[in-house]
Amino acid sequence: MTALAFAVCVLCLLPQAALTRWACARACPASCSCTQERSCSVLCDRSGLAELPKEFPCEASAINLDKNRLKFLSERAFGTLPSLKSLSLDHNNISFITPGAFKGLSNLVELKMAHNEYISYLHTRTFTGLKKLLRLDLSDCNLFNIPDRIFIEQTALKELLCFQNNFRRIPGAVRGMENLTHIYLERNKMEAVAYNSLLGLGSLRYLNLQENRINVIHEQSFQDLVRLENFYLNDNLLSDLPRFAFKGLIRLKMLNLGGNQLTNVSKTWFGDLVELEVLYLDRNQLLCIEEGTFENLTSLISLHLNSNNLTSLPLPVFQPVYFLGRLYLFKNPWECDCSLKWLKQWMDSYKLVRDIPCASPSSVAGLDLSQVVFPSANGTCVNPAELNLTTASSDTASTTENRFHSLLSKLLQQELRDEMGNGTESRRNGTLQEAEDGQLSAGVRGQRAQTDQTLLCFMVPWLVLGWIRSELVSCPSCT
Ligand SMILES: *[C@@H]1O[C@H](CO)[C@@H](O)[C@H](O)[C@H]1NC(C)=O
Ligand SMILES: *[C@@H]1O[C@H](CO)[C@@H](O)[C@H](O)[C@H]1NC(C)=O
Ligand SMILES: *[C@@H]1O[C@H](CO)[C@@H](O)[C@H](O)[C@H]1NC(C)=O
Ligand SMILES: *[C@@H]1O[C@H](CO)[C@@H](O)[C@H](O)[C@H]1NC(C)=O
Ligand SMILES: *[C@@H]1O[C@H](CO)[C@@H](O)[C@H](O)[C@H]1NC(C)=O
Ligand SMILES: *[C@@H]1O[C@H](CO)[C@@H](O)[C@H](O)[C@H]1NC(C)=O
Ligand SMILES: *[C@@H]1O[C@H](CO)[C@@H](O)[C@H](O)[C@H]1NC(C)=O
Ligand SMILES: *[C@@H]1O[C@H](CO)[C@@H](O)[C@H](O)[C@H]1NC(C)=O
Ligand SMILES: *[C@@H]1O[C@H](CO)[C@@H](O)[C@H](O)[C@H]1NC(C)=O
Repeated sequence: MTALAFAVCVLCLLPQAALTRWACARACPASCSCTQERSCSVLCDRSGLAELPKEFPCEASAINLDKNRLKFLSERAFGTLPSLKSLSLDHNNISFITPGAFKGLSNLVELKMAHNEYISYLHTRTFTGLKKLLRLDLSDCNLFNIPDRIFIEQTALKELLCFQNNFRRIPGAVRGMENLTHIYLERNKMEAVAYNSLLGLGSLRYLNLQENRINVIHEQSFQDLVRLENFYLNDNLLSDLPRFAFKGLIRLKMLNLGGNQLTNVSKTWFGDLVELEVLYLDRNQLLCIEEGTFENLTSLISLHLNSNNLTSLPLPVFQPVYFLGRLYLFKNPWECDCSLKWLKQWMDSYKLVRDIPCASPSSVAGLDLSQVVFPSANGTCVNPAELNLTTASSDTASTTENRFHSLLSKLLQQELRDEMGNGTESRRNGTLQEAEDGQLSAGVRGQRAQTDQTLLCFMVPWLVLGWIRSELVSCPSCT
C-alpha cells in the first residue's frame, strides 16, 4: 500500500521546482486551469461540472470546484492527494457524500462545502481520514443535526462554520473539542442552550448564536468558555438570563444581547466581565437596570441601551464605571424629570451622548433632554410640569445657574486646587476634597491610557454623587 502510494506519487516527491510546475500543468483536468506559483492550484470553478474530473495533479495543494453542478461524492472521490491543503465545493448541488469521500486527503486543512442546499444529512464517517483539518465550512446547507461522533478524527479543528442551517440545538459533536476557536451557528433554529452543550471548549474565542430562537439558557452553559472574546446572542427570544450566565468569562471583549426580550438587567450578570469593551443591550424591552450592574466593567468603551422601554437611568446604575466612550440611549420613552438631570449635565459637558428624546412630562415631551431646563428653588431641582397644554413649555424656563455644571467645568480645567484655598461655600468644600482624592486614585487604578477628559466623563458624576444624591429618584428595584 505504502509502496503503491509512493509509486503513484513519485513525481511529487522530486524536489525540482521546474518539474513540479510541469507536473501541475500536465495533469490539469480538461475543464480546469492549473497554476503553479508557490504551490499547485487547480481552478475548476464555474465550469458547469456535473461530475468530478477523473484525476487531479497529484501535487495539487488547492482545488476550487465552486459553482458547479456536483451532486454526489463517492468514496475516495479525489483519489490520493497528499499535498492538498484546501478544497472548496461551495455552491454546488451536493446531496449525498459517501462515507470516506475524503480519504486520501490526509493533509487537508480547509474544507468548504457551503451553500449546498440539499445536504441535509452527514454520516458519522463523512470526514474519515481528515486528521489535519482546521477549518470546515458547512454554512447554508440544509442540516438539521450532525452525528455526535462525526469529528472523532478532527481533533485539531479550529473553525466550524455552520450558519444558516436548521440546527435545533448546538450539535453535540462540538463538545470537548478543545482546539476549536470559532463556532458560527447563527441563523439556525435553536431554542435553548443546554448546560452541557459547550463543555470543554476552553480555546473558544468566538461564538455566534445570533438570529436563532433561543429562549432558554441553562445555568452554567458557558462556564468552560474562559477564553471567549466575542459572543453574539443577539436577535433571539431571551426574556431572562440565568443569574450567573456569564460567570468566569473574564476575557470577553464584546457581548451582544441586542434584539431580545429582556426587561430587567440583573447586577449578577456582568460581574466577571472585567475586559468587556462593548456591550449591546439595544432593542430589548428594558424597564429596569439594577444598580451596580456595570460596576465591574472597568474596560467598557461603548454601551448600547437604545430602543428599549427605559424611562429613567439613575446614576448609581453606572457606578463606578471608570471609563465609557459612548453611551447610546435613543429610542426610549425617557421621563425627563430631575432624576435625569445628571445625564443632561453629563451630555452638556462631554458631548458623548446625544439623542435622548423626552416622552414625559408633557411640558417637555418631544424635546431632547439637552434642551430641557430644570428650574431650581432653594437649590433643589424642580420637575418640569405635567401640563394639559403642551404649548406652555417655555413656562419652565429658568435662569438658575447650574452649579453642578460649573463645578464639572472647573474640574476639567483643573482649577479646583487653586480655588480650594479660598474657603468657598462649606457644603461644597467637603465633597470636593473627596472628589479630588477619588479622582487621583482612580487614575492609578485605570489600566489603559486615557485622557483626563475621558476618564472624568464618568468619574466626576460618580464622585459628586453624594452631593446631588438628593436629586435622584431611584429606579424601581428589580426583583
Ligand atoms: C439539485 O439536486 C436536487 C435533488 O438532488 C434536484 O431536485 C435539483 O433539480 C438539482 N438542481 C440542479 C440545478 O441540478
Ligand atoms: C490541539 O492542538 C494541539 C496543537 O495544535 C495538539 O497538540 C493537540 O493534540 C490538539 N488537541 C487535540 C484534542 O487534538
Ligand atoms: C465585582 O467584582 C468583585 C470582586 O471580584 C465581586 O466581589 C463583586 O461581586 C462583583 N460585582 C458584581 C456586581 O458582581
Ligand atoms: C415596551 O414598549 C413597547 C412599545 O411601546 C410595548 O409594546 C411593550 O409592551 C413594552 N414592554 C414592556 C415590558 O413594558
Ligand atoms: C426657600 O427658602 C426659604 C427660606 O429659607 C423658605 O422660606 C422658602 O419656603 C423656601 N422655598 C421653597 C420652594 O422651598
Ligand atoms: C388636566 O386636565 C384634567 C381634566 O381636564 C384635570 O383634571 C387635571 O387636573 C389637569 N392637569 C393639570 C396638571 O393641570
Ligand atoms: C481665590 O483667591 C485668589 C487669590 O487670593 C483670587 O484671585 C481668586 O479670584 C479667588 N477665587 C475665588 C473664586 O474667589
Ligand atoms: C471647609 O473648609 C474649611 C477650611 O478649609 C474648613 O474649616 C471647614 O471645616 C470645611 N467644611 C467642611 C464641611 O468640611
Ligand atoms: C422587572 O422589574 C420590575 C420592576 O421592578 C418588576 O416588577 C418585575 O417583576 C421584574 N421582572 C422580572 C422578570 O424580574
